[in-house]
Amino acid sequence: MPLIKTKKELKLQLSLAKKKGSLGLVPTMGALHQGHVSLVKRAYSENTTTVVTIFVNPTQFDNQEDLDKYPNTLKADMELLQGISNEIIVFAPIASEIYGVHISSKTYDFGRLGKVMEGAFRDGHFEGVGTIVEKLLTLVGPDRAYFGEKDFQQLQIIKKLVALRNIPVEIIGCPIVREPSGLAMSSRNERLAPLLRKEAAFIYRTLRSAKKKFGMKSAKTVTEWVKDQFEKHTDLKLEYFTITDVEKLRPVQRKRRNTKYRAFIAVYAKDVRLIDNIALN
Ligand code: PAF
Repeated sequence: MPLIKTKKELKLQLSLAKKKGSLGLVPTMGALHQGHVSLVKRAYSENTTTVVTIFVNPTQFDNQEDLDKYPNTLKADMELLQGISNEIIVFAPIASEIYGVHISSKTYDFGRLGKVMEGAFRDGHFEGVGTIVEKLLTLVGPDRAYFGEKDFQQLQIIKKLVALRNIPVEIIGCPIVREPSGLAMSSRNERLAPLLRKEAAFIYRTLRSAKKKFGMKSAKTVTEWVKDQFEKHTDLKLEYFTITDVEKLRPVQRKRRNTKYRAFIAVYAKDVRLIDNIALN
């Protein structure tokens, strides 16, 4: 399976691949798990050629320690991808290959989508995501690109990015994959001690109960209830819980028929920040 490190080599491979048919792109930061596997399998089933990028993008981290602790498991990642198909093209560049000498983000106007939730709590995060995703889409030129709904806000931001920059690609959101306990799959789960990992399943349990309650109660009542649940939990610290519409991510004031809602949550499990979300109707 080809592991490509330079843009030059990638362009060469892609010029051959594009003649064969459609191209699917799965951008990742490595430390691959079953969530990524589901994206790659979907891309592989829908396209003639699949490109997986593995690049821990420095500009999307607002916290140096988080970047330093981000796992690097290239060998295991390659084995996992090989298990899907040895035709997958893997692009794993170093930072200077992507950014040159100055590692910095571009500026985007994502409107309120970029300012709420992750945008409010992680300074510059979406500018960093926008920068790398724009670079990768331009470099690879895929017909379709695949992203997980665990980062639902990121998915909406990327759809907006593509519209803002007129990039001809279909952005495809794929369902969240969960551990048997219900905890959403994430590369960060590896940083949880076994007991804490078990406890972190409380996040999804609470989301499911919130969903049930949202059928009968107001968003405000459900939000208060969720806050109360986390007050009782010493190892899990709630950063935010918000119910919004799915398109613009506006917090719900009054529920409307014909509007789809989603609940979003960010929690610190000791020093590990976890996010999750659930469709409410
Ligand atoms: O979701 C991720 O892993 C990253 O944010 C992405 C889209 C690969 C950009 O670095």
